[in-house]
Amino acid sequence: MRAYDIIYKKREGKSLTRAELEFLITGYVKEEIPDYQISAWAMAVFFQGMDAQETADLTMLMAESGDMIDLSPITGTKVDKHSTGGVGDTTTLVLAPLVAAAGLPVAKMSGRGLGHTGGTIDKLESIPDFNTSLSEDKFFDNVNQHGLAVVGQTGNLTPADKKLYALRDVTATVESIPLIASSIMSKKIAGGADAIVLDVKTGNGAFMKDKSSARKLAQAMVNIGKQTGRKTAAYLTDMNQPLGKAVGNALEVKEAITTLRGDGPADLTELCIELGAGMLKLADKVTELKAGKKLLREKLNSGAALAKLKEMITAQGGNPAVVEDLTLLPTAENSLEITAAKSGYINEIEAIEVGLAAMLLGAGRENKDSQIDLAVGLELKKKIGDQVKKGESLAVIYYNSAQNLAEAKAKLEQSFTISSDKPASNKLIYEIIK
Ligand code: URA
Ligand code: CA
Repeated sequence: MRAYDIIYKKREGKSLTRAELEFLITGYVKEEIPDYQISAWAMAVFFQGMDAQETADLTMLMAESGDMIDLSPITGTKVDKHSTGGVGDTTTLVLAPLVAAAGLPVAKMSGRGLGHTGGTIDKLESIPDFNTSLSEDKFFDNVNQHGLAVVGQTGNLTPADKKLYALRDVTATVESIPLIASSIMSKKIAGGADAIVLDVKTGNGAFMKDKSSARKLAQAMVNIGKQTGRKTAAYLTDMNQPLGKAVGNALEVKEAITTLRGDGPADLTELCIELGAGMLKLADKVTELKAGKKLLREKLNSGAALAKLKEMITAQGGNPAVVEDLTLLPTAENSLEITAAKSGYINEIEAIEVGLAAMLLGAGRENKDSQIDLAVGLELKKKIGDQVKKGESLAVIYYNSAQNLAEAKAKLEQSFTISSDKPASNKLIYEIIK
């Protein structure tokens, strides 16, 4: 086999066999095939696409390129949740204890934040002494004993995806549906998931700005699930404004605790109930989504979900008192209010600008090695559809260093659009694809 012939075949719009893809991917990981040939193939895929079988084959080849986590020491169906990334997405911190309280084992591996989106591991590290790097045995034990554990990624997971993603990033081949779908699904499959709930965000703060490409991505990932024997459901959800109100690490932990107390923002609460019901259904814990939602609302209202979070914090060495006393979490020294320049209704909150403002304050990483400040970030006081009077608070910035403050403030101010008409109500969940 020759890489040239495989690139040529894809350039001409033909489907590649598993053997041909294997030749490319394993050859690439072993550095027998150079970057320039893989770049040419990726560009051919960008223009010609891949069929469902090719996409599934590529997914499995990337999943099998490194360690495959075996979650079989954990009893029960392991359902993973993945978000394609958004601003202020506090979902995992709420969802993990919520579904665990309903009896679903949660063995979650999460990442750190990059750019304008945050990462669950950074957020958890704002809980004093919380340990996100458990040994594999301890990870399994914790899930079996307490029903949940959230840790950072360990081992050598999907090296083929790491290499290919870095290459796509510099060759203008990121925005290909089959390449994105296989990249995401390969990581979930290597992570040992039996079933997968995908939160595919769409809107100005999402990777997929328009609904039709988000839908195609969701469908491509659900198809991969079908082809590889992992039950998969994809939720198409709104990212035209940040989720909830808090953006920033410790601020989002506070928001998650508040939500588990039953006093959280409506959108964050609703999304967690919806996605959680999807997870319970995939695991056959309920037969109908409606029953799943009812069960989760009970777990929220009874305090069982909050108790689960506390149990997890204790089991991972953190200070469980944060659940009752939010002042034990890192707090920024200064705050600054952003106010409305005129009266009207909030029509738009550009999520990406809000995310960038938080990053400028030090809540997110500009590059992989940036240091972050867990205490800083911002809190929205208004969301789309809310009425506002001139001079009223739109958001509060929490900061320690004034270095990028002016720029962050300007970004945050610009992210709000105030109009005289009340906007049509902003839908949170557009569609479920399964
Ligand atoms: N996220 C991923 O994990 N992979 C992609 O290719 C794009 C976004
Ligand atoms: Ca939030």
